[in-house]
Amino acid sequence: MSSQPRRVESQHTDKGYVPIYTTAVVDQPWADYTKTEHETWATLFRRQREVLRGRACREFIDNQERFGMAPDAIPRFEELNEVLAKATGWQLVGVEGLLPELTFFDHLANRRFPVTWWIRKPEQIDYIAEPDLFHDLFGHVPLLLNPLFADYMQAYGRGGVKAHGIDPNALVHLTRLYWYTVEFGLIRQDDGLRIYGSGIVSSKGESIYSLESPAPNRIGFDLERIMRTRYRIDTYQKTYFVIDSFEQLIDATRPDFTPLYRKLDALPAIAAGDVLDDDVVVHRGTGEGWAADGDV
Ligand code: PHE
Ligand code: CO
Repeated sequence: MSSQPRRVESQHTDKGYVPIYTTAVVDQPWADYTKTEHETWATLFRRQREVLRGRACREFIDNQERFGMAPDAIPRFEELNEVLAKATGWQLVGVEGLLPELTFFDHLANRRFPVTWWIRKPEQIDYIAEPDLFHDLFGHVPLLLNPLFADYMQAYGRGGVKAHGIDPNALVHLTRLYWYTVEFGLIRQDDGLRIYGSGIVSSKGESIYSLESPAPNRIGFDLERIMRTRYRIDTYQKTYFVIDSFEQLIDATRPDFTPLYRKLDALPAIAAGDVLDDDVVVHRGTGEGWAADGDV
């Protein structure tokens, strides 16, 4: 007895974007996907695979292939879960939309990755303000097969549960780390700068912009600096942070953040587009096309 899961989308009102949170875990209603929904997956899949050749990091492409993700049809969570279980012990769980922070952290801390069951409508093919199946599955799931990244995601979940118990400011600082690594991270590999952030790999425009546009800053990874940096939710990022390896990410985030949160409380936030004197600058952005305000 399973009822049709709901499609919980954020509302766009005269007060702007209003997120709606939902906690249910649902079965993927795979048999109910329409021909149009499978076609949306196919269109996005083909387009992104093309764009990501030579742009996404090696681990992303290799692991996506290991899953056997293909344009033919929306993947079945059950089939991906067999591959995941053997490789890193992660499991995908279906959800209806955005989760409250603590619910999200609890899933990650237990090696469960929440995936939105529904896919965007054809008119949203180029832009959707919130995560849908394409972003979650195409963007986030491949790196869960990478042992280092799999551990990083779980550590983040555990760190989130802890930060939630400290105070709201600790969460603000931790969320910026997620944003600038898991969602919008770049990595330096032998053959050049590459993308690993899910928010970038699931967007055609930002895949090109993040690596090739002269507009954004590209700055070497620095934990404290990132945790102080505001970000954009409605436009491409003004700044991307570059790691040298997934080991660097794990090593830098291994220490207990409790004293760091206390230290950060006394320091001012940094605007999304600012470059500091002691930044390791890979590329200083021209700032072309940047919106003047709207950092969160
Ligand atoms: N070390 C962090 C803490 O003590 C946990 C964490 C690990 C957070 C990896 C983010 C990423 O809170
Ligand atoms: Co995401």
